[in-house]
Amino acid sequence: MKRIQIINGPNLNLLGKREPTVYGNQTFEAYLVELKTQFPGVELDYFQSNSEGALIEKIHEVGFTYDGIVLNAGAYTHTSIAIADSIRSITAPVVEVHISNVFKREAFRHHSYMSEACKGCIVGFGMDSYRLAVEAILHF
Ligand code: DQA
Repeated sequence: MKRIQIINGPNLNLLGKREPTVYGNQTFEAYLVELKTQFPGVELDYFQSNSEGALIEKIHEVGFTYDGIVLNAGAYTHTSIAIADSIRSITAPVVEVHISNVFKREAFRHHSYMSEACKGCIVGFGMDSYRLAVEAILHF
């Protein structure tokens, strides 16, 4: 069975409550139930943290054994060289995900330290961005 780790960064524990006009009304936990039904043959594990170090620890933990990582690093996307280096340090492919289209938003969201280290990026399809990222890991 393929194993894919989904990792959400800061403030993404508040999906459903946080800026619903940008991120929608659904909690990630509710979305994950739906997502798992779409990939019955895949082990989809989920981890969320608001702290940079914990995100790096999880990337190290799964990064040599899992088939891929779906990473939404939240605002650390735009600031964290340390997370980008952790992606470069592992062997599992990482797909960068954003719920919102960051390129339609403030200029500081247009640069990602993650992108260059990742296999690819999926941006702006709402929660469906995560499904597309899982598809990408399974098919490429
Ligand atoms: C986000 C976009 C980031 O700019 C922001 O800081 C987030 C969420 C997204 O999924 O659209 O926390 O990664």
